[in-house]
Amino acid sequence: MGGMHIRSSGGAIGAKITGIDISVPVDTPTFKQVEAALDRYAVVVIRDQKLKPAQLAAFSRLFGTPQINVRTEGNHEDVPEVGWITNVTRDGKPLGSQDAGRYWHSDLCYLAMPSKLTILHSLEVPQRDGVVYGDTNFAGMAAAYESLPEAVKRRLQGLEAANSYRYMWNRKAYDFGARKVLSEEELEQYPEDAVHPVVRTHPSTGRKCLYVCEGYTRRILGIPEPESEALLQRLFSHAVRPEFVYSHKWRVGDVLMWDNCAVQHKASFDYAPPLRRVMQRCTIEGSAPQ
Ligand code: OGA
Ligand code: MN
Repeated sequence: MGGMHIRSSGGAIGAKITGIDISVPVDTPTFKQVEAALDRYAVVVIRDQKLKPAQLAAFSRLFGTPQINVRTEGNHEDVPEVGWITNVTRDGKPLGSQDAGRYWHSDLCYLAMPSKLTILHSLEVPQRDGVVYGDTNFAGMAAAYESLPEAVKRRLQGLEAANSYRYMWNRKAYDFGARKVLSEEELEQYPEDAVHPVVRTHPSTGRKCLYVCEGYTRRILGIPEPESEALLQRLFSHAVRPEFVYSHKWRVGDVLMWDNCAVQHKASFDYAPPLRRVMQRCTIEGSAPQ
C-alpha cells in the first residue's frame, strides 16, 4: 500500500482515511494517527476494508472495552460485541436492529458509561440507478454548544438530564412499527435511566459539547417539567442546525468511526426492501460524562 492518507471533509467534522488495511493488526504509530484524526474530525471513515466480525472486533478493541448491546437479539452469534444494523431478515426474522438511528442521538447515552466511539462497517449499501441511499448524518456538538447565546450557556451550567432507553422504546415502536410495544414491566429488562450533564467536557480535546438528544433525553432534572420540555425542544433543534451537520455517503467496505461526545447522529431511512443495507457495529465504552 502507498501509506496512510488522511483528508478532511473540508467542514468542521468528517475526514477520510485511505491506504491502510485494518484486517491485520495495525502498528502503534498508525493507530495513534487514527486516534488523533478522531479527536480532530470526530467522524472518520476508513475506506475499502473487508472485515470479518472477529477482525472488526479486534480493530475496535484497540480503542478500549467493547460493549455488548442491551438488545441482545441483534448481536452477532459468534462475536457478541458485533451487532447487526440492517433491514434484512433471516428465516423471516429481522437479522438485527432495523430502526437504529431513527432519531438524533448519541450511542448508548442511556448508560452510566456511554459509548465513546462507534465503529460501523458497511457490507451492503442500498443503491438504485446509481443513487446511493441510507446516508448517516452527523451534527457537531462542540460547534452546537459554542454557538449558543451566552445566556443559554449560563442557564445550562450544572444542569443534568435523564437519558432513557425505556422512554425511547415505545416511542420508536409507535412511530415506526419495527419493534413491539412493551409494557412497563417488560421494559424493566432494559437499563434504568442514566443521569448525565447537559453540557459535557470532551475527555481528550477539552471542548464543551452539548449532550442532550431527541432520541433518549427524557427530562432535565431539578427544573419544572414544562421548562425542561421547552428547553429540551429548543436544544434539540439548535443541536442539529444544518451548519453543524455533515452527511456520510456510504460505500461498501467503509469503516466509519464516530466520537459520541463530539457528535450526534441520525440515519436516513430513504430506502426500503428489496434494497438491502447490511452493517456491522462495535461500540467502545467511554468514561462517565463530566
Ligand atoms: C448506529 C446508528 C445509523 C445508520 O449504528 O448506532 O445509529 O445510519 N446507525 O445506520
Ligand atoms: Mn447510533
